[in-house]
Amino acid sequence: MIVCVCHRVSDAQITRHVKAGCHRFEELQDDLRVGTGCGACLDCAKSTFESALGACHGAPPRARAEPALAAA
Ligand code: FES
Repeated sequence: MIVCVCHRVSDAQITRHVKAGCHRFEELQDDLRVGTGCGACLDCAKSTFESALGACHGAPPRARAEPALAAA
């Protein structure tokens, strides 16, 4: 099912991203751009994200270098 029409993001993509370690909605938006167009999908996108997060609770968060730490 397409969740975000503006950026053609599906519920399966959101679930895959969460399973891959994306545990913050803002990070999901950075990666997939979901909800960053007209915004009409935000409620559905957040709901899909929360469901996926609940389904894979306990998965390790994605390792990501912090810019401030990478520069130090
Ligand atoms: S439908 Fe997702 S931003 Fe427009």
